[in-house]
Amino acid sequence: MNFDRNTWRFDCQPTLTDSQVLDFCREGYLFLHGVVPQQINEKTCAYLEGRLPPHPGWLPPGWSAQDIERVRQSHEPSTIFLEDWFIEHVLLNEHLAGAMRSLLGAHVGLPVLASHHATECPQGPQGWHHDADHLFGPELEFLEVFYFPQDTPAELGPTEIAPGTHIGHHSRDIDAPGLLAAGPAGTLGIHHQSILHRRGASTATGMRHMLKYNYWRTTPPVKDWLDEPGFDPATANYGGHNQARFAAHMFYWLHGKGDAYRIIGGQAWPWRSDQQIGPSYGYGRTQGYLPDWRRNNPDGYAR
Ligand SMILES: [Fe+2]
Repeated sequence: MNFDRNTWRFDCQPTLTDSQVLDFCREGYLFLHGVVPQQINEKTCAYLEGRLPPHPGWLPPGWSAQDIERVRQSHEPSTIFLEDWFIEHVLLNEHLAGAMRSLLGAHVGLPVLASHHATECPQGPQGWHHDADHLFGPELEFLEVFYFPQDTPAELGPTEIAPGTHIGHHSRDIDAPGLLAAGPAGTLGIHHQSILHRRGASTATGMRHMLKYNYWRTTPPVKDWLDEPGFDPATANYGGHNQARFAAHMFYWLHGKGDAYRIIGGQAWPWRSDQQIGPSYGYGRTQGYLPDWRRNNPDGYAR
């Protein structure tokens, strides 16, 4: 692990394989259950509840002790990023860092803004939504993380996501279930910021803390995650109709080949079926169409 406090970036070895990177392109999320040590989870709750005094390891230029208190007591307590224990065990968490490095490239930019979602349970479910300022496209310039510092079973209303909805606008009935990010204290979720999600319904009594923040790409995409023996991009699973073309475009972009991506439609690559007797036609084409990320065209393709 190479952490530079001055540039606020880190670097480490990538840990995801070809299939895991493609899974992220297709599904839009990755959950890491209970990976933050319990002592750090307890410290985080104490900090968020004002029971632990701040001990910033450094101050942003021009900040005073008053600024620390003002920000710490707000709904965006980003001062927690100045605590050495939080940097080491949460921001640079060994399980999370390798995944971030795989998806965002070398010298990953660390978060600068924390959002504290404190919910007094029980509560009804939130409506399904794409967050403000979401963007649909093949680029993966940043990733959003949520951190649950207390045990967060389904009863405590963990975040609920709809897998695969990060590639375009989706609406979903409030009664329709999704995938709950339930888990023990110290669970981290990584997701594409554009994914459809909500705060799940809670039936238990008590306070649910959740911190949300973003990691940033600072280098152009290049394929340097783990090579997976036997992985073949010509026959890999990019998802179903109206999905595969977008997931494959993102996967190409992550290889640094976004501009070279072209598709020819129908049953051609990246579409595939387990029942076909040979690989799909159309892989590696340099002439053809792009997926219509802006959804301006009825057939879903753009030139
Ligand atoms: Fe949201």
